[in-house]
Amino acid sequence: MLDSSHLKVLSNKIDKYNKMNLGHFPTPLEPLERLSDWLDGPAVYVKRDDASGLGQGGNKIRPLEFLAPDALDSGANVLVTAGVIQSNSVRQVAATAAKVGIDCHFAMITDRVDKVDTDYNHTGNIFLDQLYGATFEEISVNEDKDVVLEYISTRLKQQGKSPYIVPYGCANLLGAIGYLNAALEIAEQIITQQLHITHLIHASGTGGTQAGLIVGFALLNLPIKVIGIDIDADEKGVRCRVTKILTELADEVGLELEGLKQKIIIEPNFSAGAYGQADEKTVEAITVSAKLEALTLDPVYSGKGVAGLIGLTRNGYFKKSDSVIFLHTGGVPAIYAYRSLFGY
Ligand SMILES: Cc1ncc(COP(=O)(O)O)c(C=O)c1O
Repeated sequence: MLDSSHLKVLSNKIDKYNKMNLGHFPTPLEPLERLSDWLDGPAVYVKRDDASGLGQGGNKIRPLEFLAPDALDSGANVLVTAGVIQSNSVRQVAATAAKVGIDCHFAMITDRVDKVDTDYNHTGNIFLDQLYGATFEEISVNEDKDVVLEYISTRLKQQGKSPYIVPYGCANLLGAIGYLNAALEIAEQIITQQLHITHLIHASGTGGTQAGLIVGFALLNLPIKVIGIDIDADEKGVRCRVTKILTELADEVGLELEGLKQKIIIEPNFSAGAYGQADEKTVEAITVSAKLEALTLDPVYSGKGVAGLIGLTRNGYFKKSDSVIFLHTGGVPAIYAYRSLFGY
């Protein structure tokens, strides 16, 4: 059972890190009654990390609350990162840079998503990146992102700037502390709302969100199964990225790794076959969530997360007595870039 001593253990671990308040936390944890009725399966709750505030919110604000102070401590005056044209991570890095008063420059991967659509190329996240003052240069998916980030960083140093590299997806050990913190926040809400949560489901890609939650719940001794929906159509790759960060986190907080690795659940059947593409399951999830709950999802991440929730319920994965949190990781600005999916 969850008790305050477990909360204290986790909060002590998190307090070791320098944190900057960037977002609107705690994000709400609330029931989705109409979606639960429609599903006729487990009780469903939503954790609104899409409503984390800064720069239209999303799941990278939590990692950035730890990465930004590290950047500022290092004397950085420009955040350097990478992502696709509709990257939510890049948008949140750009928003963070604006908020703390430094620059953001990013490598924009133009050919990862097979989409030649003016909405895709100009609205949604890429529009916001530029509104927040970020600049970019174009790269190909075939280039090694880490090498490119080092190369850009070296070039900026030669120009007299002080760059700080925010890794792709904000995915590293320090960033994942943000989701240790989310586990603590969820535990506090579970206690206050007297919930008995059995599962948490979310879109998983670069791994920091899932690794942070698994380790956080383990430190809390909270038996919530974390289901990562593969959004990359690359189950092995997602597992590998989650495992890498999980391994570093386990070492950092002093937990035994093998038991934690067993807890990694990656569900491969809702990826629509490719990163950045949506299929009828994704569209159904987005449409149903919109019409029943006015909950806005996106086609690249959160739509696949709810498609996973619907599909797993239909397949009998959950018991009716289960209670599932859908962690809404954000991505909403991308919906404007995908209007054509819905016939607009
Ligand atoms: C909206 C959204 N959801 C989920 C994810 C996946 O989270 P993670 O990369 O931590 O696995 C991302 C990653 O960029 C995202 O932008």
